[in-house]
Amino acid sequence: MGIRSSKVEHLYGHMPFCAAKCHYCAFYSEAGSAAKMEDYVDALLLELGEFATQLAPKTIFFGGGTPSLLPAPLLRRVLEALHEKVSLRQLGEWTIECNPSTVSTEKAKLFREFGVNRISMGVQALDDELLKTIGRVHSLKAAMGSYAKLRAAGFDNINLDLMFGLPGQTMDHWRNTLERAIELQPEHLSTYCLILEEDTGFWSLFQKGLIKPDEDQELAMYQAAIDTLGAAGYRQYEISNFAQPGRECAHNIAYWEGENYLGLGPSACSTVDNRRWQNIPDTDRYIEGVRNRKSIVGFEEVLTPDLRAAERAAFGMRMNAGVPAELVRGRWDEEIAELLSAELVQWRNGRLRPTPRGILFADEVAAQFV
Ligand SMILES: C[S@@+](CC[C@H](N)C(=O)[O-])C[C@H]1O[C@@H](n2cnc3c(N)ncnc32)[C@H](O)[C@@H]1O
Ligand code: SF4
Repeated sequence: MGIRSSKVEHLYGHMPFCAAKCHYCAFYSEAGSAAKMEDYVDALLLELGEFATQLAPKTIFFGGGTPSLLPAPLLRRVLEALHEKVSLRQLGEWTIECNPSTVSTEKAKLFREFGVNRISMGVQALDDELLKTIGRVHSLKAAMGSYAKLRAAGFDNINLDLMFGLPGQTMDHWRNTLERAIELQPEHLSTYCLILEEDTGFWSLFQKGLIKPDEDQELAMYQAAIDTLGAAGYRQYEISNFAQPGRECAHNIAYWEGENYLGLGPSACSTVDNRRWQNIPDTDRYIEGVRNRKSIVGFEEVLTPDLRAAERAAFGMRMNAGVPAELVRGRWDEEIAELLSAELVQWRNGRLRPTPRGILFADEVAAQFV
């Protein structure tokens, strides 16, 4: 299926494999054998071929799953294909998500050789017991070792994902995690509050009453992240994202600002002009469909200008930068008046922005626009 619009500037590639499923995670992934990974890469490159001439990426993001789980020769094939098939002249940021258990010096060097310039590594917690509780396959030592390997290979733009609101995690744990993460001086930190997702190990425990979310503690942990990271020079630019100056993730900002993007692989979403579609979240059917030139789209919708504006406003309210006045004035005047009087948003330099309090309640603020 082709794209009619002008060239798409943001590309996502989904790698649907993980060594094991973490107890909290509902991202689409499976264990996968070596043979299946090979078939998958064949299919992914065929799908890429379909769109290659319509892409001029400024950002690329390989996410998952665990892209770094693919064996080095397969990763090389994917990276080579990108260079061969797609014009990378205006590429500024190329991120690969890594699980610490899968980082090697060989892979880190390979990524660098092909121009990957940003790593996002899932660390989640800096405590072995907690890592075990949440089903991570790596130890704290492995996370530290992988970080050192990435630095030694020359990566100067690294994000670490951290999680809070985890079962058994105390405020002391969390403060300690934040402090130790800051000591490592990554350029970017993402801090995610645990979401209990259906079809996860934690969901079953929650259903049985064995996990009890504590909203007050979650809010206190979130505030601790904002204060501690802010004091250490990380600017919060989105509800879950903090960066050293100039190190914000351009790929994610493009999503949030409503840019067109193309997603390849099973479960990947694409939005181009007034069309949004999602590939089927099933690796076998995806491989089979691409091979036999059948449709691999599982869901498709037409986006009205109103819907796209509403999405932009809602995402904008999750970012410190907010949204330009012309996007929201005249459309949501009543809602904005209410949010202004509750001191959840403010006008600043021609933009409607969440206040620091609004950031704490960003989901509620965003909901006013959809
Ligand atoms: C695709 S994963 C990251 C890369 C790699 N697979 C890893 O786990 O190391 C994206 C991130 O989303 C976060 N995440 C996943 N499921 C979550 C959940 N249920 N609640 C909150 N954050 C979650 C985790 O911090 C995770 O690192
Ligand atoms: S958090 Fe990462 S490693 Fe764990 S299951 Fe999800 S995608 Fe896989």
